[in-house]
Amino acid sequence: MKQPERTAFLPALARVLGRDPGTGNFLSAQGDSAHANQQQTNDVFSEKWKSYDQSPEKEGLYAMQKRWYLQLYGFGAEEVLAAFLREHKVIFDAGCGLGYKAAWFAELAPESLVIGMDFSEAAQQAALNYAQLPNLFFLRGDIAHTGFASGSVAYVSCDQVIMHTENPEATFAELARITAADGEFACYFYAKKALPRELLDDYFRVHCKDLSNEQIWALSEQLTELGKRLSELKVSFESPDIPALGIKGGTYDVQRFLYWNFLKCFWNPELGRETSVVTNFDWYSPSNARRFSEEEVRRLVAANGLQIATFHQEEACHSGRFRRQPA
Ligand SMILES: C[S@@+](CC[C@H](N)C(=O)[O-])C[C@H]1O[C@@H](n2cnc3c(N)ncnc32)[C@H](O)[C@@H]1O
Repeated sequence: MKQPERTAFLPALARVLGRDPGTGNFLSAQGDSAHANQQQTNDVFSEKWKSYDQSPEKEGLYAMQKRWYLQLYGFGAEEVLAAFLREHKVIFDAGCGLGYKAAWFAELAPESLVIGMDFSEAAQQAALNYAQLPNLFFLRGDIAHTGFASGSVAYVSCDQVIMHTENPEATFAELARITAADGEFACYFYAKKALPRELLDDYFRVHCKDLSNEQIWALSEQLTELGKRLSELKVSFESPDIPALGIKGGTYDVQRFLYWNFLKCFWNPELGRETSVVTNFDWYSPSNARRFSEEEVRRLVAANGLQIATFHQEEACHSGRFRRQPA
């Protein structure tokens, strides 16, 4: 089947935006935030994506992220996701970064309109990288204030983003507002971790605000090296349960024990060194990085009139697809 041309998607895009979208695949909205922490978060993500867009490791990360996405949102297999996306004619990748997931959606569902939005400079880079996909459009802007028509998006995907927005509850309400009746909103939340790690993360993130990008890159290198050296020890031990600190008992590799309970020092040799460094950069550099308990997520979903279609939990996150009832 021949894919429709870009112009075929413009009327649907105009309905979502409530304005004439022009003819290009990049629509500049706003790139600045009035909130200092959000602006700092945008700046560090612009820095991160500018650096990572050139990385030879990025295809490996994208492949891992796509496999993970299928687990996080209960699709299980790419064919199941493809069938779902084809039934949803307007798809929004909220906080799309370099746009590889938006591009994936656009390729799997060539007759659906896919829109990616990011507050960092990555939105423009994404538009350049994926200009060949006629059903894919990018905007630079704040997903907490999309300006989209209410109920205009059949599938909203907000993967690994909401905790970086200025007020995650308000962002969630905005994304629920634009989700169509009978549509779905997929969202990922960082989970709260053990108390020492939570305390260190909050304290340290404030400290990182005063560091230059060069200093944060150097720190991220050091944390990666620490993670690598600890995992090379290949030592595991039995930790007791320490409920007051949120430390769960069990057999741990030393690096994993430190990682989950005290300090993010990510190291994954399969993904590569650069990806591990970027992952550590991504953790301590943004000022905005809220964590949620399961109860907080469930309350937020219910408060916005959504029903849980799928719910998934891992040590690091809660994620799910939340459905708006038919009108
Ligand atoms: C960890 S990255 C995830 C990117 C992508 N969703 C993925 O799964 O690879 C978080 C992204 O959220 C974006 N972001 C943070 N706050 C935002 C906001 N208020 N509006 C739009 N994007 C935002 C950042 O610029 C960054 O690209």
